[in-house]
Amino acid sequence: MEFFDSHAHYNDEKFEEDRDEIIDLIYQNGITRTVCVGYNLIKSKEALKIAEKKDFIFASAGISPNDIDDFEKRKLEEIEILAKNKKVVAIGEIGLDYYWNKENKNDQKELFIKQIEIANRLEKPIIIHTRDASIDTIEILKEHPVNKKGIFHCCPLNQELIKEGLKLGFYISFSGNITFKNAKSEEAVKLVPLDRILIETDSPYLTPEPFRGQRNDSRKVKLVATKIAEIKNLKQEEIANITYENANKIFNI
Ligand code: NI
Repeated sequence: MEFFDSHAHYNDEKFEEDRDEIIDLIYQNGITRTVCVGYNLIKSKEALKIAEKKDFIFASAGISPNDIDDFEKRKLEEIEILAKNKKVVAIGEIGLDYYWNKENKNDQKELFIKQIEIANRLEKPIIIHTRDASIDTIEILKEHPVNKKGIFHCCPLNQELIKEGLKLGFYISFSGNITFKNAKSEEAVKLVPLDRILIETDSPYLTPEPFRGQRNDSRKVKLVATKIAEIKNLKQEEIANITYENANKIFNI
């Protein structure tokens, strides 16, 4: 059985000590594709470096709303140059985060829109990070359509956001958060049709139950697949295959 972890951060410092070992280990365990996601300029460069070393790893490049200090014309130009590389399969993670900062909403919106424009120039999808900002996120996507669509990553289990995201043609990627004790996960998973579902770990964060609190890696994407399979009344293998195909499609691999 093979799995596609649609979102991991092997560029995170938590993997500094044993990055190569973990990367080999995840492949041996059947996670035969993943995207190493950038979130500022330095981490996007690192993501591409990691992806260039391994055939099965791809990268994304972008500046997240929590890295707004990187919002400079020169850095956005560098992101665009990086993203021209074949191994960069998306612009991300980008979006809005009013949980961590509501003082700079206008800057966050501008940064998000500028990167949607990069995605459209390069004909690549986007990976969206949105937290406590559903209404503004959807509004921006409606006013600035993304040609190649994209993914709501680690989807906040907010039904309105999921419904609107699906209407706009986006994919919904579920992470370990659906295994946490939370009545909302079942409803959220049920809302998403099989041809729009992805699975991810967001490693090293969001470790699924019963390992919550430990460092996460892509092997645990299997637990996310199991949970979705339970809710959808399917086999884990079916979820593995469907999400693998979906990820290849949206990332154009
Ligand atoms: Ni992430």
